[in-house]
Parts: sequence; C-alpha cells; structure tokens
Amino acid sequence: MTENNDVELEARLENRERFEPPQSFVEQANIVDDAIYDEFEQNWPECWTQAADLLDWEAEYDTVLDDSNPPFYEWFTGGSLNASANCLDRHLENRGDEVAIEWVGEPTDEDDRTYTYNDLHREVNEFAAALRDLGVGEDDIVTLYMPMVPELPIAMLACARIGAPHSVVFAGFSADALATRMNAADSEFLVTCDGYYRRGDALEHKAKADEGLSGVDHEVSAVAVVDRLGDEYDHPMAETHHDYDDLVAENAGADVEPVSRDAEDMLFLMYTSGTTGQPKGVKHTTAGYLSWASWTSQAVLDIKPEDTYWCAADIGWITGHSYIVYGPLALGTTSVMYEGTPDYPDRDRLWEIVDGYEVDQLYTAPTAIRAFMKWGSQYPERHDLSSLRLLGTVGEPINPRAWKWYYKHIGNEDCPIVDTWWQTETGGMMLTTLPGVKDAKPGSAGPPLPGIDIRVVDTRGEEVDPGRAGYLTVNKPWPGMLRTLYNNDERFISEYWAEYSDTESDDPADWVYFPEDGAKIDEDGYITVLGRVDDVINVSGHRLGTMEIESAIVGVQGVAEAAVVGGQHDIKGEAVYAYVITEEDSEGNDDLHDRIVEGVEDAIGPIARPEEIVFTPELPKTRSGKIMRRLLEDIANGEELGDTSTLRNPDVVEDIAETVGDD
Ligand code: WTA
Repeated sequence: MTENNDVELEARLENRERFEPPQSFVEQANIVDDAIYDEFEQNWPECWTQAADLLDWEAEYDTVLDDSNPPFYEWFTGGSLNASANCLDRHLENRGDEVAIEWVGEPTDEDDRTYTYNDLHREVNEFAAALRDLGVGEDDIVTLYMPMVPELPIAMLACARIGAPHSVVFAGFSADALATRMNAADSEFLVTCDGYYRRGDALEHKAKADEGLSGVDHEVSAVAVVDRLGDEYDHPMAETHHDYDDLVAENAGADVEPVSRDAEDMLFLMYTSGTTGQPKGVKHTTAGYLSWASWTSQAVLDIKPEDTYWCAADIGWITGHSYIVYGPLALGTTSVMYEGTPDYPDRDRLWEIVDGYEVDQLYTAPTAIRAFMKWGSQYPERHDLSSLRLLGTVGEPINPRAWKWYYKHIGNEDCPIVDTWWQTETGGMMLTTLPGVKDAKPGSAGPPLPGIDIRVVDTRGEEVDPGRAGYLTVNKPWPGMLRTLYNNDERFISEYWAEYSDTESDDPADWVYFPEDGAKIDEDGYITVLGRVDDVINVSGHRLGTMEIESAIVGVQGVAEAAVVGGQHDIKGEAVYAYVITEEDSEGNDDLHDRIVEGVEDAIGPIARPEEIVFTPELPKTRSGKIMRRLLEDIANGEELGDTSTLRNPDVVEDIAETVGDD
C-alpha cells in the first residue's frame, strides 16, 4: 500500500496479534458467555432449537434434525411457517412504525426512501397480490434480475409470502447469464428494472433483460418492470411486460394471507459458480435458512431491534440475501441499503452514510477495505463514525494490514471486527469469532461457531497439525446448509460430499461436507482460510468459475484455446488472467483483445473481465495433456517458476513469462 498508510499504522498495531473485545462492547453484547461452545457441543443438535426459537411458527416442528438419509438432511421437520410473516407481520404490533429499510439512492440530489415495517408490509402485500394476478402460484420460481432498489427486497418477500421461491440474478451479470439461470430453473416469471445509477451514470438494464429473455428456451408468462429511471430511459414494453407501479396500484391495500410453508419447503434458489461451466442452483429452505440467517445475525453481528445496521453488499449475492434482507428483517432491526458505489460523488460516500444514519454495525468486503486504505484515511476522517459498535468482513481472506487499518481508521480501535467465513451453500456464517467472547486475530477468521464442527484435514481426511496447510471440512450438518443442487442430487453429492465421505453409507458420521477451501489452524483452534482449491477464483469477493470464463473466450472467433487463472491483485484480491492461443489465421488480429473482453462481458458480465490477456503459441501442459494452471498462476503473480520438468513443453513457460514481464 502507499507509504502514507505505512506510516499511519504505527508499530503498536503492526505487531499486535490479538485484539480482545472492547469492554464497552462486551457490556451490551448479545452473547458474552464462553460456555456456549461446550453447551452446544454437548447438546447437539438440540442446541439449534435456539435458532428455531427466533422464528414464529404456525405449526411447531417435531424433529430438530432428521438425519436418516444423509446427506439429504432435514431440519425442524413437521413445522410450518412463512418467511415474509417472520420478517414483517410479527413486528407490526410493537415495531410497525420503526424503520425496516433505509434506502439510499446513488444520486445525491435524490431523497432517501424510508420504509417502516408498516410500509414494507403494505408494499409486500400489494406486490404479492400482483404476482398472483400475473399467475404466479406456490412453488413457481420467480427470477429477480434487479439492482439495489427497494423493490428487490420487496419482491423477495412478496415471493416468500405466496410460497414462490425466488432466484435472484445479480444485475451486473450479462443477458446470457440471466438466460442460463432462467432456463436451468425453468422459471416463467421475471421481475426486473428499467435501469439504475452507477458512478453517476444511468445504466440501462431493461435492454439487457430483454436480450436475456430472448435466450430463454421456454415461455415466459409475465415480466414486471420497476421504473427507476423515470423519463430518462424509454424502453419498449412487450405485451407480457407490466409496469411495477401499475401492478401495485391495481392492488392497493391488498391483504395477502402468508402461505403456510413446510419447514423444508424451498425459500429460494441462488446460482453460484463451480468447477464446471454450468452454474450450480443452490437450494435453501424456509426454516433452516431463515433460522440460520437470524441466529448468526444476532450472535455474530450482534443485531438488536433498535440498531441501524448496514451490510454494504449487493443483494444479488448470498451476503445480501442473508444479511441485508432475511437476517436483519427477521430480527426487526433497521437495515440500510445503498444503491451505488463507495466513490460517488466522492470517496467518503460510505462514511457520510454511516455518519448520517448513525450506523451501529458495518459489514463489508476486504476488497472494499483495501480500496479505502489506498484512498487514505482523510476520507473517513471527514465524518463522525462514533456510532459504530461492530465491524465485519466477508467474501475473501483479509490481510492483517487491511484488518488493522479498518480497526483503527473506521472502528477507532473501539469496535470488534468479525471476519466471517461462509459460502452461498452454507446459507450463513460458519467460521468467525463471537465478538463479545473471543479475541480476534487479524488474518484468521476464527474458530467454528458453537455447534459447528469444522476441521482442517489432509487429503486422507486426517486432521493436520497446527500451522500446516490442509482442507476445510464440515463434519456435522447445520440448519442453514443447502439441501441440494436444484434438480441435481447427483451433482450435489459429487461436488460437496464425495471427496471425504463414504457415499455408500447411511450413517451420518460417514458424511463430510467439503467446501473446496484450503485452510490452516493454529494452536488455539483459530482457522485461517487460504482460498479455493477448485477452479473458482475470487475477484473482489465475487466468485467466478474459470471454466465459465474459458468457455466464453473460446467462443470468440479466432481463439483456439484458452486457460484462465487467478493472479494476486492489490485491491481485488484476485484478478482474471487469461492465456490465449489464437487460430493461425487470426495472428496479428488487432481487435481480438477487445473482442475477447466483449465475449467475457457478454457471457458473464464486466466483473469477469480479464485483467490481462496473454497471447501465446502454446499452453504449458503435462505429458498427459493437462494444462498446468499452477505455472500460469506463478507467471501471473510474477513468482519464481516451480518445477517444469514434468511438462511436455517446458520452454513455453519461459516464453509466456517473458511476454507477461514485457507489459
Ligand atoms: C471465500 C460469500 C476467506 C471462500 C459469503 C468461500 C472467504 C467463498 C471468506 C464463498 C473469509 C468467504 N475468509 N475466504 N472470511 N468468506 N470466503 O459463495 O473461498 O460468494 O468458499 O459466499 O468465498 O463465496 P460465496
């Protein structure tokens, strides 16, 4: 980082390895007793009634965990409930006039929108009625391709209200990505938006949605379109396209009885990247997921109803699902939602919002913190951040320097930081410190949460010694876990369980979940997550499959072969490096670089855009023809090249390294 910042972190912080919870935090924390770890271990799985107790049930469950058919675990079976009623209706009596969502649009001359629980309840009912009018029935999957507008959480809760699972597709994804996801989910309904603001520009979104719709291979019955840009953007509306405001107006004052859902009924699908080119449809259920999002919000983020809490993520990813929408609203708190980027109109936008709304907890990603650090502490210093009580990070490993900068310049050395490791598949947090109980160690997420059995093992499944690198495994089920991959139980088993389980066994003790992350553990049981060990890279906290990017590149005319790896990047954590072999007649084709970038953006979205494209006559391959990605990673990182003796074509590595070095 810059020299300026080097000076800013004095030796006192530089050398410190442990940070105990501040006394003022402990005095008010939701959990303060260390005994919870032993209690949960001894009382497992019944300990999870504590999570279920955070919810209102229509019918009580009779079994906490049904593990008779591993790995198809079921939680809180026999119970029924509705997620939207849990996030809205039950708060109305005492907290109806309290703020549920504080929405901040990007343009500074626009008024913020405040939704009390009463307001949100009303809008959700109206849109739920509208969805029914459009023909959405229970169990129909509704795709939400929407940016950070309030209508997104409204649509999610409206779907939940009528028992229609949602599948949110990140607005930054391309038209193709939308079509792939709608096809995979057989989704016949879409809610989208005309556009949104990003760094001062009005981005047109509807055209992308339309293009995506043209790639859907089944009939799409209805599309609802939120009007965010007003007259600024005129877009054609087909006959099946309906204006969101009209739909809601037609249903003004509607009262939609929340549909009673079985505990194990699907609440939503979320597509995420995996090893193959095809995204995985992660299935989450009503009771297990909602109880998990709620319990972790309370235990780790220390959320209380009277807090103003802000998770500065996008709802298009799992973090926003669990920790902007479901967890905070189930707990009846105020959740802040921001539409735009942190550097618009200036690099202090986040701090202005924290100051203005007196935010109590801030939850963001290391990539953002590294950017703040690079921009310098003068930006947060312009504002009063003393309302902050807790800070959190998620999405990728945080380096101790960035952790300490966050601690000092945002938390004023007075806020615990929770570094939370989890995944789309886990539904919520798994590894992190309980902030009122455990010391934090920068760079290490922490021990598993109480009741979570995580171990670091070698390839045979034996626990490794402290300090040695191994693989993360989860050895017992938990309520928030994915239940399967949509319509693909086989892939569910092969992706997550086969590695360390006896897949013939029906004894749950023989089943081990493999998250595909490398890790090491220290003497105190704190775990440092080292990153993915599959072909997934983590760019700015966003999970991207290298195979997806490769297939986009190979689809570009003139490209013969491509290999994509992640290389280290100061701000993004990892960046996309693409090595490309061109077809003979494309050599010297000047616009190929641009067409590759375009190809990737069209197939996935700008987040997957390569940082560097290296044209090479060959890729390093083993004698059996396998691409040696590790060497390509070394080249991307400018590191000493490892052993090349097993290569069929060792010379090529030097050639490529030189090409990269030339830039
Ligand atoms: C990585 C995001 C280190 C990890 C919630 C995981 C992390 C993937 C951390 C999941 C962390 C997430 N420290 N690595 N605190 N949090 N990861 O599904 O590689 O988008 O497997 O879920 O992000 O990404 P996903």
